[in-house]
Amino acid sequence: MSTTHLSWDAKEATVGELAERAGVATSALRFYEREGLIRSRRTSGNQRRYSRDTLRRVAFIRASQRLGIPLASIREVLSLLPDNRTPTREDWARVSECWRSDLDQRITLMQQLRDNLTDCIGCGCLSIDVCVLANPYDQLGDEGPGARRLAQPCTPHGE
Ligand code: FES
Repeated sequence: MSTTHLSWDAKEATVGELAERAGVATSALRFYEREGLIRSRRTSGNQRRYSRDTLRRVAFIRASQRLGIPLASIREVLSLLPDNRTPTREDWARVSECWRSDLDQRITLMQQLRDNLTDCIGCGCLSIDVCVLANPYDQLGDEGPGARRLAQPCTPHGE
């Protein structure tokens, strides 16, 4: 039986070793790689090998995902790091501070939606004109008819 334990002096890890050490499924690591969040080199036998600092990169990705940050935003932040380096403690401090305000905004929105849910229970109309869940801010009607929100572009910075 083969072991997947990553030794402390190893410079590279197999997908199994990295998965075990990071506490994620190997399928998640392959998915992160397909999405451009982590990288590996291939051995002559076409097996993946990850540099040791990928462990910290995966921790960054997982922590970000727990905050509800979309993969596209995580990828964008990671792409800003020079030479594809792994996020440092300072990087995470700065990014998490930025994402805290994003989280605060989402919490506020969810609290508003929760408070408005009472009116919708047993209704089912989902009317743009009267339903506060279908139209949380009751402001899109001023912009014209139809599904206005679907026509608006969405950017990572909410501009
Ligand atoms: S579903 Fe009718 S008011 Fe929300």
